Amino acid sequence: MSKNRAKLALLALLALVVSSCSTIGVQDGVLDSLSPAGPIAEDLANLYWLVFGIAVVVFVVVHIGLIYAIIRFRERKGDETEPKQVEGNPVLEVVWTVIPVVILAAVAVPTVERVFRYTECAPDSMRVEVIGHQWWFEYYYPDYDIWTANELNIPAGEEVCLEMTSDDVLHNYWAPKLNGKRYLIPGEETLLLMETNPIAEGGAPEEYYVHCAEFCGLSHARMRGRVVAMTQPDFDAWVANQQLPAAEPQGELAEEGLELFGSQGCAACHLIRGDYDESGDNTVLIGPDLTHFASRGSFAGSTLEYEDPDALKLWLADPPTWKPGSFMPNLGLTESDIEALEAYLRSLE
Ligand code: CUA
Repeated sequence: MSKNRAKLALLALLALVVSSCSTIGVQDGVLDSLSPAGPIAEDLANLYWLVFGIAVVVFVVVHIGLIYAIIRFRERKGDETEPKQVEGNPVLEVVWTVIPVVILAAVAVPTVERVFRYTECAPDSMRVEVIGHQWWFEYYYPDYDIWTANELNIPAGEEVCLEMTSDDVLHNYWAPKLNGKRYLIPGEETLLLMETNPIAEGGAPEEYYVHCAEFCGLSHARMRGRVVAMTQPDFDAWVANQQLPAAEPQGELAEEGLELFGSQGCAACHLIRGDYDESGDNTVLIGPDLTHFASRGSFAGSTLEYEDPDALKLWLADPPTWKPGSFMPNLGLTESDIEALEAYLRSLE
């Protein structure tokens, strides 16, 4: 390899290392597991720092020995004598086997213990069923008979038990600031504990980002979610609202949207309780329950913001351009169709 090529290769490697550390696209470290927002993630972050500390000590000790050996035993000019030849040293060999075994055990015991502790649920913790779909998360609250999507609303400071499964392929639920990752497996149930820091009385809800952490097809990168933590009174109000049927559409445009929702075939995949719930059963549906669509802060796998005035238009015009491979097809809606559908959807608070 020429000198220039070697330099170029080194530069490329450096760029790779630096870019992997960058926080571009990760606003305010929203996916940073080292800035925990709950007791479970905090405990895991502390464990990470413990392991990191041990690794630093090992690194320093090994490199001091290495540098010492390189300098002390280097070949010197004019010194032609053969160094002393050594073969086998039982004491040394036992020592360098036992030390790593002790270190690995010291790391493994607390790690494995936590794997079990945070993937089991106390019998009295609140339950939420999580169902993975290509490419969105669905939630069912058995205690309240509520279905929702993308955003997991929970009372802050309470232990919540996620009972997870998948409708199609492997997915993985990861809220970096709240807990480690856990698989969603078709035909199987996995458990994951979730707990956020408490919110003071009257405090505003807090949002934490979720990302699917297993490659699950074309739009894996667009499979996100949120955990929305709120005070108990806010959560109770949220539950009460979610249990209601859809709000009456207000105004002509929204009413036109309600009609279009049926005539354009949206109701074949989405349920809106009170308006389009002929099947009455969410479990057979392909798309999210939209009864309270407007009460969510995000949609389309939590990749589009409800507040963004262009987002819903963009999504309705051609879902597969935003989420490649999406089961929601381009319905060939006209601009006025989209306007009416948007008015209807935004009335579903
Ligand atoms: Cu679901 Cu990646």
